[in-house]
Amino acid sequence: MDGNGRWAKQRGLPRVEGHRRGVEAVRSTIETARDFGIEYLTLYAFSVENWRRPEEEVGALMNLLEYFLKRETSTLISNKVRLRTIGRTQDLPAKVRRELERTVGATAHFTEHTLVLALNYGSRTEVLDAVQSYAAAVQTGEVDLHDTSWTTFARHLYTADLPDPDLVIRTSGETRVSNFLLLQAAYAEFVFLPIFWPDFSRAEFAAAVTEFNRRERRFGRTGEQLAPTVPAISGTG
Ligand code: IPE
Ligand code: MG
Repeated sequence: MDGNGRWAKQRGLPRVEGHRRGVEAVRSTIETARDFGIEYLTLYAFSVENWRRPEEEVGALMNLLEYFLKRETSTLISNKVRLRTIGRTQDLPAKVRRELERTVGATAHFTEHTLVLALNYGSRTEVLDAVQSYAAAVQTGEVDLHDTSWTTFARHLYTADLPDPDLVIRTSGETRVSNFLLLQAAYAEFVFLPIFWPDFSRAEFAAAVTEFNRRERRFGRTGEQLAPTVPAISGTG
């Protein structure tokens, strides 16, 4: 979700106003994902690098997060959306942690739709945390160092029980990944949109999904291997 600040700047408004409008786009995006039958929606809300922003902006983002959780929990419950987080949430302010725990707890039993908030998230810190957890598992004998696979290692990522993303959308015109799900997006399709996050509407979401459906996903195979086999016409009678 990128471009809140520029959206505001373009209108001569303070950056925080862009973030406020960004929250509205979050609301509608959650609703749209649900309507489209998307089972997992992950929103990159705050990165480990975002702490480098001015204290005032970081504070405003945390307040908005708290406000969002307070206001949206009932909607998540009535829409049967489970909330999960990825990232070092233990380092978020106590008031945010409290709201997160409340909402995660209140929605934990839903299975149809999952909203994942990436909070204080970064792929590199995720790798470090995973390696630490993996090494501990090797030490206890739970994991055999010599009998290892990606699946075994991936169980130590924040996303252990979440599927890899099929589609990654970035708004604002930047064509960077910015430390987001680097490992999980190994085979994701990317769509970069030239619009700012507050302008990400249902129509934009639908267009990105249409673009996704046009892509041929080969996962290392050839296009021929994927093409439906044409039944051979044989015989003369
Ligand atoms: C939203 O957009 C990103 C966050 C929620 C941290 P930005 O705040 O990065 O907006 P720009 O890139 O400055 O326009
Ligand atoms: Mg940005």
